[in-house]
This record gives sequence, structure tokens and C-alpha cells, in this order.
Amino acid sequence: MKPFLVEEGISNEMLSGIEQHGYYIHRNIINVTDAAALRALMEIRYDQDQFKKAGIGKGASFSINEEIRKDSILWIEETSSSPILASYSSHIDGLISLLNRHFFLPLKDKELMFAIYEKGSYYRKHRDRFAKQQHRFFTIILYLTDWQKGDGGELMIYTDQGEVKVEPHQGSFVIFTSETEHEVLPVFARRYSITGWITDVPIGLTFL
Ligand code: OGA
Ligand code: NI
Repeated sequence: MKPFLVEEGISNEMLSGIEQHGYYIHRNIINVTDAAALRALMEIRYDQDQFKKAGIGKGASFSINEEIRKDSILWIEETSSSPILASYSSHIDGLISLLNRHFFLPLKDKELMFAIYEKGSYYRKHRDRFAKQQHRFFTIILYLTDWQKGDGGELMIYTDQGEVKVEPHQGSFVIFTSETEHEVLPVFARRYSITGWITDVPIGLTFL
């Protein structure tokens, strides 16, 4: 996987996008072959029933509510089983350093999960930063679906400046601040992504 995000040019564009609008979208951060390989990796685990229904909230306030959210997820505990996944993970570490330097932030870690939305799934308007645990600073999503118009599942981002519709194209990447309201529109064809958050505490400690 070629280096991304911390490259000159891209990084400036990304930092100014975050600064000015609260988000940044890159149309092809990884190539089609790498996206297909990651999708295959997800499919194996999905077929082995390793995914679980996604919930709302964290810790004691965790619950499953299919009116709000209807996707299946698998937390990524280790990335060494796949060179592409390991490479993505280390690029995100580079991104964390970049964000810390540029915005003078104390970001420390990331949590990553595989997410699959089957036809008929969605995620209603919400924020990713929880009221009780405010450790998520940025939401990062890598889209892995060979997406066509009509497949649905666009990400809507709502900011003070208006709304943006993000098409979840294979290999595209989006980052936004986790207090931003956003939504996944109803999906008409299976949708794959690696979704993650950049946090200001080590991930083992996010229950604090
Ligand atoms: C989430 C989320 C958006 C997307 O998992 O919290 O909002 O485009 N995902 O997958
Ligand atoms: Ni979200």
C-alpha cells in the first residue's frame, strides 16, 4: 500500500479540510486490489459468524436498537494477519502524530472495526463522541464496497456550513470530528467498511 495521508500535498489538504469544514474526503486512498483483499478478509470472518450486531453507547449504557442502527461489526484486535491491514493501521498511527503536531492534540490511540451493512440497513443521525466518555476525537472510515450508484449507504455529514453526501466508493477514505452529526442512508447492496476512532486515551482505557 502506498503511503497516504501523511504525504505532502494530501496532508495539507486534509488538515485544512478538517480545520475549515470539520471533515476531509479522499476518493482513492487505497487501490482496488487492496480494497478487494480487505473485503475478502472481512467476508471470511463474516461467514464464520465472527461479527455481532452493533449497539449504541458504551459500557453500562450499551444497547442494541435496530430502529437506530442496523449493521454488524467485528472489532479489529490485531492487524498482523494481513499486511494490508497492518499497513493501514500504521498509516493511521502516522495520521495520529500528524494531527497531534498540527492541532496540538493529546491523541494516543485508535480503535478499528470491520462493519458490514446488509441490504435494508442504515444508521440514523448520531454523533460518535459519547456524552459520558468523550475520548473519541476523530472518526475515520475506509470504504471497501465496489459501490455503484443506486447501492445506497451514502454517508451524510451535517455541519454548520451545510450537509455533504459521501458516496462510499471502494478505496475512499473520510475523516471527520467525532462530535459532527452524521448518518448512513439506507443500504440497497451489502456495504463494507473499516470504521475507526482516534482517541485521547489508550484504547484499553476508554471505559474511564
Ligand atoms: C459509525 C458510522 C458511518 C459510515 O459507525 O458510527 O457513523 O459511513 N459509520 O459507515
Ligand atoms: Ni457514527
